[in-house]
Amino acid sequence: MNDGHNDRLIEEINQLRREKNAVILAHYYQPEDVQDIADFVGDSLQLSQKAAATNADVIVFCGVHFMAESAAILSPDKIVLLPEPNAGCPMADMVDVTDLREKKAQLPGVKVVCYVNSSAEVKAESDICCTSSNAEKIINSLPGQDILFIPDENLGRYIAAKTNRPIHFWQGFCPTHHRVKKEDILRSRQEHPGAKVLVHPECQVEVWQEADYVGSTAGIIQYAVNSADKEFIIGTECGILHELKKCCPGKIFYLASGEMRCPNMKKTNLQKVRDSLLNLSPRVTVTEETREKAIGALQKMLDVTK
Ligand code: 13P
Ligand code: SF4
Repeated sequence: MNDGHNDRLIEEINQLRREKNAVILAHYYQPEDVQDIADFVGDSLQLSQKAAATNADVIVFCGVHFMAESAAILSPDKIVLLPEPNAGCPMADMVDVTDLREKKAQLPGVKVVCYVNSSAEVKAESDICCTSSNAEKIINSLPGQDILFIPDENLGRYIAAKTNRPIHFWQGFCPTHHRVKKEDILRSRQEHPGAKVLVHPECQVEVWQEADYVGSTAGIIQYAVNSADKEFIIGTECGILHELKKCCPGKIFYLASGEMRCPNMKKTNLQKVRDSLLNLSPRVTVTEETREKAIGALQKMLDVTK
């Protein structure tokens, strides 16, 4: 698409967001031009905090389905739009309610800590949610409890190591983060000696064990901003490079692997954002019955993270 076409779309988006009193939230993994028109760009935790606190009538969620669904749970009076309705998260689909109920029955008294990358139905069966930036805090808020961590096994193992707690894991994973291999990190270190390695905890255990810093997307950005180092090897989805380059002029970033692109995050584009605002569709909704059960786990997470 040419720039003129994009300029027109951006003008329309700006007019529509004013008319509809809408806020546009975007994750760091979104395409660059979508990040650029957002009112707020953040990681999963920051976006859920914004969604819970906004005064807007309409939330346009530029991310994936579970993120918009969390916004609908936290802000039931708002219209929540997901510009691309088929933007899902394969990791969230790796746990379903029936399997979770079975697992809970095998572990009586277990507390279910549920990564926000999960459906509303799964959250409704969970005790507390977490994101990659507050998982350690959430586990520490449950001293002495038997914990089942769902669905991301890599994040679960990272938090178990950090907190020195025995945790039951689920065998879920992010296909995008799974693609970076230990060999990619070792090769990148050889190619860029002295560069710091910053990775997301959704990466495989043998990958985050090689890193200088492990954290959420916001954590990685913060680390790079505050660091005196000038070169970084990045182990997370490629969309983060946009914010890293904006926040750290003069610093150099290398992706640990060329494969780190989440196809679902890249389904959003400016045209779909414009259309969603124009038509107030596609909407993401949650039945009141599920919402009432799911909000407890999300609200507890926000309360612990305040
Ligand atoms: P964070 O936003 O917590 O860094 O998680 C990344 C992710 O995979 C979102 O889908
Ligand atoms: Fe899901 Fe991974 Fe894509 Fe995040 S990056 S939405 S966890 S598939």
